[in-house]
Amino acid sequence: MNQAVENFRSRDYWIVENAQYAAVSFRLRKCGRIVNEMAGDRDCTLLDVGCGPAALRSVLRPNVAYHGIDIAIHDPAPYLQEIDIANDPIDFSGKHFDFVVAMGLFEYMGQQQDRKFDEIRAIMKNDGKFIMSYINFGHFRRLVWPNYNNVKSIAEMAEHLKKVFHVERYFPVSHHWRQKQPGKRSLQGLQMKVNFNIPIFTPAMAVEYFFVCSAKK
Ligand SMILES: C[S@@+](CC[C@H](N)C(=O)[O-])C[C@H]1O[C@@H](n2cnc3c(N)ncnc32)[C@H](O)[C@@H]1O
Repeated sequence: MNQAVENFRSRDYWIVENAQYAAVSFRLRKCGRIVNEMAGDRDCTLLDVGCGPAALRSVLRPNVAYHGIDIAIHDPAPYLQEIDIANDPIDFSGKHFDFVVAMGLFEYMGQQQDRKFDEIRAIMKNDGKFIMSYINFGHFRRLVWPNYNNVKSIAEMAEHLKKVFHVERYFPVSHHWRQKQPGKRSLQGLQMKVNFNIPIFTPAMAVEYFFVCSAKK
């Protein structure tokens, strides 16, 4: 399944496309919940790579200081920087972070993927965590949009991550028979708590997975 090519979209494309991520999606709410649980009450820093309109910020506790980078920033703010990471390194003024997250990004990182993992490792604090989402291209009704330039199985993605990180766990963001995020509130409540793999069901029905990684010791 492994397909990674070098056709990156420009800022002109993403400034239009990423506006649709302004509302907090199920994926971001679940990511926020995981980060908040891991952060507890301690003051921490977080970098959201490919942050889009920075919707994740609104679901984080105030003790998690939010920073975001993206190729196309809509509303400039001190905690946001516009960087095209296909051409420039992942960086935010030389800072190091307790959490680095990348939601819905690595499907678009083509052959840059492994280099971006190295850059993320370099800006993580030693006890920091990296949390990323990745589409389940093994879904039984998978949709492979032409815009994806990095299409891998979940097992392949795990192998790539393991070269740089300790992969602590990976589990479904949500399940759906049509490979879309859960719609009904009741289903969302249930799926928010399903942070484990269900044999046979998850590989065929997971929409996306979360990977929770730490630095290799
Ligand atoms: C699918 S959207 C996800 C947005 C948000 N993280 C979310 O989950 O709602 C992908 C994001 O990656 C950003 N992106 C894509 N290519 C990029 C690049 N080369 N450099 C920086 N950001 C990029 C896009 O602008 C967009 O905001």
